[in-house]
Amino acid sequence: MCGIVGYYGNEDASPLLINGLSRLEYRGYDSAGIAVLHNGKIDVQKAEGRLSNLIGLTTDMHGSIGIGHTRWATHGAPEVRNAHPHISKSGRFALVHNGIIENYKELKSFLEARGFTFVSDTDSEVIAHLIDFYYTGDVITALIKAANRLSGSYALGIICNNDNRLFAIKKDSPLVVGLCGKDTFIASDMQALLDKTRDFYILDNGEIAVIGDTVDILNLSGEHIQKQIYHATWDKTEADKNGYPHFMLKEIYEQPEALERTLKAHLYAPLPFLYDINSIHIIGCGSAYHAALMGKYIIEALTGIRVNADIASEFRYRNPIIKPDDLLLAISQSGETADTIGALEIGANKCKSACIVNVPESTLTHKSTPMYTFAGPEVAVATTKGFTTQLLNLYIIAAKLLKKRGDDRVQSLIEEIEALPTLVQQTLTLEPQLKELGKRIAPHSYAFFIGRGADYAAAKESALKLKEISYIHADCYPAGELKHGTISLIEEGSVVVAIATDKALLDKTISNIIEVKARGAFVIGISCFDLSKVCDVTVTVPATQFVSPLLASVACQMLAYHTAAAKGCDIDKPRNLAKSVTVE
Ligand code: F6R
Repeated sequence: MCGIVGYYGNEDASPLLINGLSRLEYRGYDSAGIAVLHNGKIDVQKAEGRLSNLIGLTTDMHGSIGIGHTRWATHGAPEVRNAHPHISKSGRFALVHNGIIENYKELKSFLEARGFTFVSDTDSEVIAHLIDFYYTGDVITALIKAANRLSGSYALGIICNNDNRLFAIKKDSPLVVGLCGKDTFIASDMQALLDKTRDFYILDNGEIAVIGDTVDILNLSGEHIQKQIYHATWDKTEADKNGYPHFMLKEIYEQPEALERTLKAHLYAPLPFLYDINSIHIIGCGSAYHAALMGKYIIEALTGIRVNADIASEFRYRNPIIKPDDLLLAISQSGETADTIGALEIGANKCKSACIVNVPESTLTHKSTPMYTFAGPEVAVATTKGFTTQLLNLYIIAAKLLKKRGDDRVQSLIEEIEALPTLVQQTLTLEPQLKELGKRIAPHSYAFFIGRGADYAAAKESALKLKEISYIHADCYPAGELKHGTISLIEEGSVVVAIATDKALLDKTISNIIEVKARGAFVIGISCFDLSKVCDVTVTVPATQFVSPLLASVACQMLAYHTAAAKGCDIDKPRNLAKSVTVE
């Protein structure tokens, strides 16, 4: 949700900023811009739409200090005048911002009354003018005074035309400082800088980075802070496409390794946050919520422990009943999702809390006990390996709880968890069949997904995947629910994807498939059983006792990918979306 980058060093800043932005573009792609300081003058270039529209405008920009931004529009339409960097009234400051300034209207009136005029509709422009207003010769003093007036969230990169340093401030939006010998970068995430360095300062709230030939970290009282360097273990090649046409396909194929790393980290390690709990609330947004829902079905069915799965943006405002012996478990690939952080915060002081997160040192991991997924960097906006490693952690939680209860089924569950990388590898061999099916679905304007139990959660995630990347409307229902209304929408040729991997529920789901078939639907069964008598096509995933819903999700990722590919969609950057949703 907006990416920011900055550079201080000896080289020309503009190509380095563009390179950084290309690695952050998944955070937003409504507009892009850079500002470079050259001989006491700030040059700015901005372009609407993709970063590729900006590149040609920056070739004549010189100077070795600069900032850049890729935008996901919140305040103001995606137009050049709303693109960052914003320039302050005197022309002294250029600023890039990720976050939301909640009191921007009040500050805007304050500044307008003092002669400031605004060229954009953004909340961010206010910050540039406010710093200018407080500037009396010392940038740091102006930054501190301005920061103390802001409410909301911000990661800021700032340059000043008469100060040869780069400045950055953070509150509730991610920001890292990448240390690379004489060169220093700032960025919204480590992923953007992995081709430059693995050594970072990860800024905490209320910290200012003052970057010159050395890097100084200050607090908002202007005092120096001693900061530890964080050494990232992610591999730079993981953030590249490595010959795949899209990051999404590469990330689908990375799942066996991602699962292997994650299970090795957790399967035999203790998880103290599971001790003495009576029930569990699992929260997340989008796919992470679907993981939570599947976790509910799996953990409740196996352990008898009550599990509530909730959409984080609902949980945080509905006064949920949270008891001291509950566990609040937040799921988030990025660890930066505003709704999930907000939901965790309302419960974290009432009970034990933990989080399943992929991005190391992200905000959620500082607010609760992390149980990391080791998916590595996920660049495609639509999550794949992030989602399946979240499911794996939930299966591991179920296994630990089962073991504590002395339940015999734990051994078979552990065996299946250990076999997951191989089972997913086998599922990936279905690609040719799923590619053909993708071509078949591509001309349709809508589809239905159905399933029961954990397969319903898998179906919800599969419908989301299809919608977000192929723009085909997809509705998902528990299979038994269709006849209560939605079946009226089924007509000759309607596409129905039925996930049926649970033997205990198979006959029930088959009855529901027959109901839609009888009304002319074209039914694709995703199952480990022979559905050839009731479905038009069956995609057969490996048969297991517990983990087949995860395997069905992998098959459906591939189905969505090939449907979108057949339609020629921009798969890694679907319209209107951004990867890390840091606003409510
Ligand atoms: C869908 C997708 C989103 C995210 C959601 C939560 O493919 O990626 O629905 O799952 O925005 O993001 P995180 O997991 O970063 O909290």
